[in-house]
Amino acid sequence: MSTLLSVDKLEIRTPGRTLVSDISFSIAAGERIGLIGESGSGKSLTALAVLGLLPEAMRVGGSILLDGHQVIGARDRDLVPLRGASIAAVFQEPMTALDPLMRIGHQVGEVVRRRATRDGTACGREEVSQRVLALLERVALPEAHRIARAFPHEISGGQRQRAAIAMALACRPKLLIADEPTTALDVTTQMEILKLLEGLVRHEAMGLLFISHDLPVVASVATRALVMRHGRLIEEGPVATLFDQPSHPYTKSLVAAARAFDTALEMAP
Ligand SMILES: Nc1ncnc2c1ncn2[C@@H]1O[C@H](COP(=O)(O)OP(=O)(O)OP(=O)(O)O)[C@@H](O)[C@H]1O
Ligand SMILES: [Mg+2]
Repeated sequence: MSTLLSVDKLEIRTPGRTLVSDISFSIAAGERIGLIGESGSGKSLTALAVLGLLPEAMRVGGSILLDGHQVIGARDRDLVPLRGASIAAVFQEPMTALDPLMRIGHQVGEVVRRRATRDGTACGREEVSQRVLALLERVALPEAHRIARAFPHEISGGQRQRAAIAMALACRPKLLIADEPTTALDVTTQMEILKLLEGLVRHEAMGLLFISHDLPVVASVATRALVMRHGRLIEEGPVATLFDQPSHPYTKSLVAAARAFDTALEMAP
């Protein structure tokens, strides 16, 4: 399988601190990878580096080859075409992706139109709105017509996250980055969205970099996982191996926490 993303010795620094160091990993086309670690371990910074969206004040070292393009040091205008075609992202807070003053259908439609233009198959209004409705239905939004006409504040948080996923899918990226996309949602909605995301990514053979601090959540969508701590990678491997034979004490503690939670659930009346 061809390599979609290759990160080599990534280092991220502010003038006073090294936040991320010596991170190397790769993602093959269609591969679903999890990135786990405690709060502040550098997961989001790693994701932002791959997207070329780190704050300007940060210094970045190493190499990030995305779909054959070097991201580190690239000018923003060279990265713009990559965003969308090669890579798209879903964040914890869907309002970071959605414009509060624009109807959902319009926002998803903009992405559909841009993608079609890029493919050289520019499509008319009617075709765009058909595709928007189809996308909203694919992310299992009920009453697609109503949602398309709604403003973000007129739908629920779970529905907003589905809309943000629809926008990311409309790009048809080769790699989707999902940074804690379900953390802000209740457990039932979280499970539904994880299942949906996993199914869609698998169906489209998209690569996935899925970020979470929760090992069982990562296990439900990824086949392989990377464990980060204090800005470094401390362990990686197939999810099943990490669960069954964690080698680093931190990974062991993650597995123990997940098992304790399972046991508590089983013992609940
Ligand atoms: N803009 C910034 N300027 C300076 N330091 C930052 C900035 N953004 C993040 N950091 C620091 O970098 C470190 C890693 O942050 P990061 O957001 O990557 O953590 P994370 O693993 O995503 O955590 P969480 O699970 O809480 O989202 C933290 O110590 C954080 O305080
Ligand atoms: Mg984060």
